[in-house]
Parts: sequence; structure tokens; C-alpha cells
Amino acid sequence: MAHVSDLIAEDIEQYLKAHEHKSLLRFITCGSVDDGKSTLIGRLLYDSKMLFEDQMEALEADSKKVGTQGGELDFALLVDGLAAEREQGITIDVAYRFFSTDQRKFIVADTPGHEQYTRNMVTGASTADVAVVMIDARRGVLTQSRRHSFLASLIGIRKVVLAVNKMDLMDYSEKVFNDIVDDYRAFAKQINLQDVTAIPMSALRGENITEQSAHMPWYRGTTLMGYLETVEIDEAHQQKLSFRMPVQWVNRPNLDFRGFTGTIASGVVRPGDRVRVLPAGQESHIARIVTLDGDLQQAVAGQSITLTLTDEVDCSRGDVLATAEDPASVADQFQVSLIWMHEQPMLGGRPYLMKIGGKTLPVTLAAPKYKINVNTMEHLATKELALNEIGVCNLSSSQPIAFDPYKDNRETGSFILIDRLTNATVGAGLIEFSLRRSQNIHMQHVDVSKKARAEQMGQKPALLWFTGLSGAGKSAIANLLETRLYARGRHTYLLDGDNVRHGLNRDLGFTDADRVENIRRVAEVGKLFVDAGLIAITAFISPFQSEREMARKLLGENEFLEIFIDTPLAVAEERDPKGLYKKVRRGELKNFTGIDSPYEAPAAPDIHIQTTRMTPEQAVERIIATLIEREIISPDY
Ligand code: ADX
Repeated sequence: MAHVSDLIAEDIEQYLKAHEHKSLLRFITCGSVDDGKSTLIGRLLYDSKMLFEDQMEALEADSKKVGTQGGELDFALLVDGLAAEREQGITIDVAYRFFSTDQRKFIVADTPGHEQYTRNMVTGASTADVAVVMIDARRGVLTQSRRHSFLASLIGIRKVVLAVNKMDLMDYSEKVFNDIVDDYRAFAKQINLQDVTAIPMSALRGENITEQSAHMPWYRGTTLMGYLETVEIDEAHQQKLSFRMPVQWVNRPNLDFRGFTGTIASGVVRPGDRVRVLPAGQESHIARIVTLDGDLQQAVAGQSITLTLTDEVDCSRGDVLATAEDPASVADQFQVSLIWMHEQPMLGGRPYLMKIGGKTLPVTLAAPKYKINVNTMEHLATKELALNEIGVCNLSSSQPIAFDPYKDNRETGSFILIDRLTNATVGAGLIEFSLRRSQNIHMQHVDVSKKARAEQMGQKPALLWFTGLSGAGKSAIANLLETRLYARGRHTYLLDGDNVRHGLNRDLGFTDADRVENIRRVAEVGKLFVDAGLIAITAFISPFQSEREMARKLLGENEFLEIFIDTPLAVAEERDPKGLYKKVRRGELKNFTGIDSPYEAPAAPDIHIQTTRMTPEQAVERIIATLIEREIISPDY
């Protein structure tokens, strides 16, 4: 999930340049400040001499002021001070710190520990090699420790350090340590974490951090720093996987050169290698590996390069180059795990944009199959995912994409979801597997086309989409419009909210999630009617901009008209044709549009009808005039 932390890519790059010859380990610390997380990070920075002198002086002064135990430096003060600085105007809520030793350089992502910060932890952990789970020896393994460990394993961190801290406060007891380790290992097995290294320590006193503790002779293992300096880094692991490179852009300075530029996601590539261009599937061989410093004979995961191929093949931005021996899979329907990161909940049926590798494309999420209680690992039934919740659902993409299951490749198996209207990142996802149906269901060609059907009816098909509050007058105006068109021999069909909710959509209520699904189905049916050659009219509240936009996208240019039946709430309530507003006011009806459920008015409707300024007949005249203007019907229709 490298994309989430692209924000700091520049900082990292600069840092890397300065220490180019050393390998880089990324790790994340999990736990709350009370567990000694800040102290530990401060200690690591201090011991590796990465603190600047003025920070040191401030630290000594501050430590004196608050009077820490035995005049020791309070490293937590330092880290918390940095955090406070950061909060002024910087938007990411994960703190990245860099330090290095003679052996290696390190990036540590420090994330707030509270329950509501799943999003931060996922962002921080998305590229980490190791998670350091802090345990307070006095308190043992907490629910929070389990939650952090689960999140870490979910996003593919395979190595965990169980840092049992504050051993000094438990008389350096071996039994205390062993009990905690046993407890944790039992849990780790449950979530399939296999590589756990437990270290007893005192971050405050610097025991088993960089130097072996004299107080715990029973512990023969490595210090934390010793571990961090020698453990295998993920990039090394990533290099062992099959070759994959998402194409970021096609580099074509002149007719003689056509190169494909990107960062290698996994594996190794050499001139002569046979590669496949995905999703299309054409094959070719690598001709050259081009960089600013000259051609290479080999390039590995993490390197940014330009590749040229021996053949002229179709390959554009967003495609994936993969080894032909073991290519990535291609599909358009998946089961995915989602981590929801936005205040607006994830709603099944709603369209989003998916960014995977170098590609951004529209996708639709089905309702979640379940969400996971991250404290107990229980699966819970749900229709939506709220901020920081994790769930599993099916996803279908508008085009086939190249991918690997996340468990096989973190880079090509992860994606982010973006809101189509606001462009905000709303979630992060992991592909579990493609659905078999995606291989087995294909569009069937039919010989009689939409055009032929429409011609037989002598009309241009269209979807006339009415939207507005309950009682705004949608049904009345739509009904009058259909009567007019029908009388003139037009072929029409009117889909009305109340009617459809008696049949096709009788299983749906009025929660946000149900309304989204209601409109998704109606839009699909509307599309079928247009395909049948009809002028279809829909009269639904359709309160969300997102779904109306989706309906528009389902249809062709000039086939969709959004008609806003604009009636102020007070007027609709005054009319109250079905007596529903009265029920609402008596407290007998909840989630009512305009009262305690939102209505997002269209920003730029094709037709805007203000019902307080015209009669239904005049409204119909207006709509007919626009239909003529847009050449959907002729003046003498
Ligand atoms: S939508 O929001 O999902 O588009 P739809 O148009 O299908 O709604 O149904 C709205 C009709 O259902 C209203 O005209 C009204 O008669 C009825 N209704 C019942 N409960 C509600 C509610 N809570 N909110 C809005 N309409 C409701």
C-alpha cells in the first residue's frame, strides 16, 4: 500500500540519498504512550545520536522541570514535543522519524494508539517491515495490543517484536515475562502471525534496547536494536517474488524511442526477459533497462526505471508488466478486505474510484458480508462500514485489472478507494481473491441492437430522472408527462418509488444503505428500458448526488436528464399528500428525507422545476421544451 504514504516519499528519498549504501528497515510502534512507546522511540533516537543539540538541551531542561525518576532523561517529553510541533499545519497524523546506526538506517512510524485511530495505524504500517508491539509488563497483553497486532497482520506485516517493557517495575521477573509471552503467542496463532520475537526490556533505563540488561541474566536473546539491525527487510522479500511493474507513464520523446516508466513492485528484471503486458496479455521481451545513469543489466524491486521492449505492443499508463513465466492474474470481480477511513460510511452499491498500481478506475462495492470486531475477531453482520471499521465485501471494477492476492504480493494486491465527488481517500483495501464468476460471466452479444429497437419505435430512447423531496410533486408531474408523451404515440415507461418498493425493492427500507441500493437497482432497470428503446421516467427521491451521478454514467451522452422537482420542505410538509410528514412530527416515522435523513439537491440539474412558481401543466411544458431542444423528441413529436 505504498500509495497511502506517498505524501512523505520526498522526505524519505532525501534521507535515503544521504545513506545510500545501507539497507533501510521500516517499522511501526504500536501501543499507547503509557506503555512507554514515546520513551522507547526517544531512547532509540538518543542512542543512535540522531537528536540535534538544541533538542538535547531542551530535553535536559524539561526533564529537570518535571522531575523524572532519578534525574533520568524523559524521552517521552522529546517525542511528544515533536508531535505537538507537527500538529501545527501538517495534515498527516502519522509521525515518521529517521535514524541510523552503522549497520542500517531506519524509518519508524509512530501512530496514536486510541481505538479511533485505525486509519493512522494502517497508513503508518502500510510499508512497514516489522511491528513493535509494546506491552506494559504490569498490565500484560491488552485488548489494544491484540487489535494492533491484528491490524498489523491484516496489512501484511509478517514480523512482530513483542516488546515487554517496564520489566524494572516487575523485579525483572522471568515468570512475568514468560506468562505474557505465552498469552500473546496463543493469540498470534489465531491470527496467523508466525514470526514473533519477544524481548523483555526497560526503555526508561535503556535495558535490552541497545545494551544487554544486567538485571535479566535469564534472557539470552537479542536486544531490540540488535534485532532491528539484522532482521530481513521486506524489500529483500519483495525481490524474491515474481517480476511486476505498474506502468506510471509511457515515455516517448521521439519516434525511435518508446519506454515504459515505473517503480518495480516486486522481483528482478533483466534484458532478454519475457514479459506479458496486463490486462491485455500481449507478450514481448525486455530490450533495455534505461536510467538517468545509463543502462542497467538488472533492476530489482523498489527501483524506478524505464523499460523498452523488443516488439511494438499496446501498453499504456496503468498497465502492468509482469514476467511471462508467472504473470499476475486478471479479473474484474473480487472479494476484498476494506479498512474504512472516512467519516461518511461505506455504503454497499455506491460507486467509488479505485487506485491500484498506476491505474484509477470506477468500481462498485457490494454491501459488506460482515465487519470484524477488531477486539474479539468476531464477524458481525452489517450493511455499512463506519470510520475505522474493517470489513469484507465483493467489489466489481468497470474494466479488468491485473493484480495478485494481497497475501502473495503487498504491492500489487492493495488499493485505495477515492470518493468520486470530493476526491477524498475514503478507504484502503486488500484483494483476497478474484471471484470465479468474473471468469465465467461474459457479456453476450445480441443481434438486435438498442439502435434497431429504438428505430422500430421511431424514437430516441432516454432516461428522465426526477428527484426531489417526498411530496415535492415528482409522481404527479411524471405521471402527467407520461400521459402527454403516450397520447402522442411515444413509447414510455414510468418507474415510481412507491410502486417499485412494492415489488422489486420490497426488501429495502430507508436507511442510507438501503436508499443507495434502491437507486442502484432503479438505475440499472432504467438502463435496460433505454436499451429496449423506451423513454423511461423515474420518480424517486434519490437523495444522494453520488447515486444520481452513477445513473448518469450508466447511460450514454444525451440519454440521461436530471429533473429537479424543487419544492421547499415547508411547502411539501404543508401539502403532505400521504400524511407522512404528520406521522414524522408525531414521532412515528424515522429517517425521513429532509427531516432526519439528508437530501442533497442537484448542483446542476438538466431541468429545474420550482413547483411554487408553476403548475404541473407548466412544468410538463418546460420538460417537453427541453426534450425538443435536446433532440430527444421532435417538435411535432
Ligand atoms: S429513496 O430515498 O430511496 O429514493 P423512494 O423515492 O424510493 O426513496 O421512496 C420514497 C417514498 O417512500 C416517499 O415518497 C414516501 O411516500 C415513502 N416513505 C416512507 N418512509 C419514508 C422515509 N423515511 N423517507 C422518505 N420517504 C419515505
